[in-house]
Amino acid sequence: MKNLSNYEIVNKKVLFRADLNVPVVDGVITDRSRIFAIKSSIESLIRKKNKIFILAHFGRPKGEIIEKYSLKFILPLLTKILEVEKIYFLENLHKVNINKKVDEMHYGEICLVENIRFEKSEEKSDLDFAKNLSSFFDVYVNDAFSASHRNHASITGLPKYIPAVAGNHLIKEIKSINSFLENSKKPNIAIVGGSKISTKINLLNNLIQQFNCVVIAGAMANTFLLSNNIPIGQSLVEKDLVDEAINIQKRANQLNCKLILPTDVVCGKSIEDKKPVHLNINEILSDYMILDIGNNTTEEINNAIKNSKMVLWNGPLGAFEHKPYDKATNEIALNIKENAKRFSIQALAGGGDTISSIKNVNAEDGFDYISNAGGAFLEWLEGNQSPGVIALIENNFS
Ligand code: 3PG
Repeated sequence: MKNLSNYEIVNKKVLFRADLNVPVVDGVITDRSRIFAIKSSIESLIRKKNKIFILAHFGRPKGEIIEKYSLKFILPLLTKILEVEKIYFLENLHKVNINKKVDEMHYGEICLVENIRFEKSEEKSDLDFAKNLSSFFDVYVNDAFSASHRNHASITGLPKYIPAVAGNHLIKEIKSINSFLENSKKPNIAIVGGSKISTKINLLNNLIQQFNCVVIAGAMANTFLLSNNIPIGQSLVEKDLVDEAINIQKRANQLNCKLILPTDVVCGKSIEDKKPVHLNINEILSDYMILDIGNNTTEEINNAIKNSKMVLWNGPLGAFEHKPYDKATNEIALNIKENAKRFSIQALAGGGDTISSIKNVNAEDGFDYISNAGGAFLEWLEGNQSPGVIALIENNFS
């Protein structure tokens, strides 16, 4: 695979795929890691006097031009973090506008292109669109590992037509995650939370083969509890996946993988309920919903972490965005922070909500590596190579 160290890009017109799909709450960007992630590659391309066109998506506008999904809002922060004087903005990919911008820019300057998902062709992975767009440029760089699980024109289409090169952050993500999976010390523990088991079935099936212990928490645990005939009141559940939950438990048992499910929980009448009740798992009342795991379960997980040599974490353990249902998630993050160095536990985490949870309690330095990818991280852990990475590997333009 070509990368920025083994492939010289000098005085070229570069299409640079970034992931600028940053979390925004009330108009404020709450996590900047995806912007910092591209800095190293961008700096190297600036040093080598290239004209850099950053392609990125924001949200899911599905081929429509929708103002709230415009990438314009990110320009000031992008300019600040990349430490450049100015970043141009390209409103659309009309031929005349691309040519105008290319002429206007000096080598060593950057232009941000408007949300690529405003183009209907992007998500359809329209190859005519990719071919036409690539014809204005010399080289394509993909530094968006976190979007590389998408078979979209800007991820898998462009590398079909011009030399395609992996950016520094994409390489770092792949190397770091692979090194954990390949050198995972045993006993190891995977903590999987989040709301839906449907998005994590393949992941769980893969993890139970590779880990000694798998914790299932967050709302996705409710489907497992129901599959064990535990009444879960009004809790979120995916009833159609109860059989799948039974199968995963059976397979884990055969594989000698210990599964930890909640034995006590924190419930409320709704997510806004500020008077939570702490209940054992068989005491859940019919008008209550599970919103966090309880102290005993948290302690069991904490002990299991201390007895492990490697911990992998993806997904919050409760409704962490609504206090006080962030308690267990915060405690697990802090526990990893406190014990990782003390007991030489390797720690890997990934996923948007997981990153926010870790940052909320300043536990970043407890982790050896935190991936800024969500879906792409999960798919990689499931054992699938991202289509975007395959496209880079298969690219044979010199
Ligand atoms: C992400 O936020 O995980 C990536 O930017 C991909 O976004 P998507 O799930 O909308 O494709």
